Amino acid sequence: MEFFIDSANIEDIKKAKDMGLVDGVTTNPTLIKKAGKDHKATIQEISQFIDGPISVETLGHTAEEMLEEANEYITWGNNIVIKIVMTPEGMKAVKQLSAKNIKTNVTLVFSPLQGLIAAKAGATYISPFLGRLDDIGHDGLTIIEQTRTIFDNYKFKTKILAASIRHPMHILDSAQMGADVATVPAGTLFKLFEHPLTANGIEAFIKDSKAWATSAV
Ligand code: G3P
Repeated sequence: MEFFIDSANIEDIKKAKDMGLVDGVTTNPTLIKKAGKDHKATIQEISQFIDGPISVETLGHTAEEMLEEANEYITWGNNIVIKIVMTPEGMKAVKQLSAKNIKTNVTLVFSPLQGLIAAKAGATYISPFLGRLDDIGHDGLTIIEQTRTIFDNYKFKTKILAASIRHPMHILDSAQMGADVATVPAGTLFKLFEHPLTANGIEAFIKDSKAWATSAV
């Protein structure tokens, strides 16, 4: 399973990259707002130290507007993925970008049938939003399971990118259900290292090393 970091915060992305946790980056308008810097400058800075795919979200409503943004975004880095919302106009844009071999990530996917539509349009990735489904009392993970079955049945190459991840169990369950990628906020990524038995074990080993017998010189 690949790990993307769901962030536009340069320090967090660098920190996670140094830990070997960043195969790619996903951003959205909210994350750009939180990072507090210019959109283009932020993406260009990320693309200077990240080789993997960087998803950049379009804001237009029509396919033409999205394609215009896509043409601009692909000049911002070497591995830009155009993030497009799951709408009929969005799928028109995905079809055209796919024909030009430009990578796309269809976002705000909340059902397996939306995922199927996006795969048929030629999307590189689809992003089912697990946490936001859980928030309204649905089981977000079901969408991963059902979409995996559909994509395998028809041999779609579109990758399932589990998004809106809120906790480590979302990652564990998505991995078991066969999601290709999980895009994870920095805080949750760092939590993956934590286990009380690891912390206790380190403490005990250090304590014991201080009580080692020393050989006479
Ligand atoms: O980047 C899309 C998605 O991961 C957003 O997550 O937490 O805002 O639902 P969240």
